[in-house]
Amino acid sequence: FLVEKGNFRHFMAKEMHEQPEVVSHTLAHYLDLAAETVQLPGKLPFDIATLDRVSIAACGTAYYAGLVAKYWIERIARIPVEIDVASEFRYREAPLAPGGLMIVISQSGETADTLASLRYAKACGQHVLAVVNVPTSTIAREADVVVPTLAGPEIGVASTKAFTCQLATLAALAVLAGRERGTISTDEERRLVHALVEVPRLMNEALKLGPQIEQIARTFAKAQDVLYLGRGTSYPLALEGALKLKEISYIHAEGYAAGELKHGPIALIDEKMPVVVIAPHDPVFEKTMSNMQEVAARGGRIILLTDETGRRAAGFETEATLVLPDMDPLIAPLVYAIPVQLLAYHTAVQMGTDVDQPRNLAKSVTVE
Ligand code: G6P
Repeated sequence: FLVEKGNFRHFMAKEMHEQPEVVSHTLAHYLDLAAETVQLPGKLPFDIATLDRVSIAACGTAYYAGLVAKYWIERIARIPVEIDVASEFRYREAPLAPGGLMIVISQSGETADTLASLRYAKACGQHVLAVVNVPTSTIAREADVVVPTLAGPEIGVASTKAFTCQLATLAALAVLAGRERGTISTDEERRLVHALVEVPRLMNEALKLGPQIEQIARTFAKAQDVLYLGRGTSYPLALEGALKLKEISYIHAEGYAAGELKHGPIALIDEKMPVVVIAPHDPVFEKTMSNMQEVAARGGRIILLTDETGRRAAGFETEATLVLPDMDPLIAPLVYAIPVQLLAYHTAVQMGTDVDQPRNLAKSVTVE
C-alpha cells in the first residue's frame, strides 16, 4: 500500500517524528497500565524463569538494539546474554545447550544472515523468539514465538522508528523476565513500567532539539571523521550514531566504548574531529566525564548529549551541549536515539545526499 511523506521532506524525517506515537503503540501492546505490569498478549512456549542463557543475533541497527537488550536482560533478569552479528553467528558453530533461548531481531524479517542464525539455533534445540516488524515475514513464520514491534512500514533505508520500537519491546521483555525470575520486586516492576510510559512524552521533548541539531550539523558536514563515545547502554547508541552518520552522510564515523578511547582512538583526536559524547546522568556518568576530559585536553571538539543533571555536573567547555530532561536510566537509549538520528539526518541534508536511499545500501539484505 501507499505510504506518503506528508509534510516531511524525507521518509526518514517523517519516521523520526512518528516515534512518540509508534513507540507508545508498541508499549501499549506489552504494558498493562491498570495493573502496572508487563504483560505479553500470548503465553510464551518456554519457561523464562528457568533459562540458563540467552543468545541474540541480528544485523545493522537491529544488532545495536540487541546490544542494548543484553545490558537490560543481564541487569534486570540476571540471565547471561551472548550476542553476535548474524553473519558471524551463523558460521561460528557456537555450542548452544538445548532448551536455551535465541532472540533474533529484524525490522524486515527477511535478512538472510538473521534467518540463517534462526535456523542454526533451531537445529540446536533453542526456543526462537523473533522481534520483528513485518508479521508476515519469513523470520516471523519460522520463529517459535513472535513478539512484534508495531512501528508500521519503514521506508527510509536508515532504520529509525523500527529501532526504538525494538528497544521498547526488548525493554518490556527484560522487565517481564525479571519479574518471572524474581530478580525484581513488584515495586521495581511498577517503577520500570512507569519509566517506560514516560518515553513518548520524552521523545517529543527530544524532537524539540531539532533546530539546535541543525546548527551543529552545519559544522559536522565539514568533518572528515566523527567519533561517538558512550558507556553502558550508551555504548550501543554510540555505535548506532556512527552507523547512521556513515549510512546517510557518507562521513566516516566510529562508535567506541568510552573506556576504550585510551586504547587507540585517542590518537586520532585533534581540533578538527568532532567527538559526540552520549552521557545521561547514570551510574557511569562520572567515568564518561573523565574520558571527555581526555578529549578536551587534546583540543577535541566535544558535542555532549546529556540531561539537566549531567549538564550541571559536567563542568567544562564543550562545543555544544544538547540537554534532555532527567529520566530513568532504563529508558535513556530510547530517548537519546532521537538526537543521534537527528544529527545524522541534518548532516546528510546539509551534504545533499539521498537521505532515504543512500548509495550502495538496501533496506533489506536478503542475499548473503
Ligand atoms: C540493512 C538496513 C539497516 C538494517 C539492517 C538489518 O542493512 O539498511 O537499516 O538495520 O539491514 O535489517 P533488518 O530488516 O533485519 O532489521
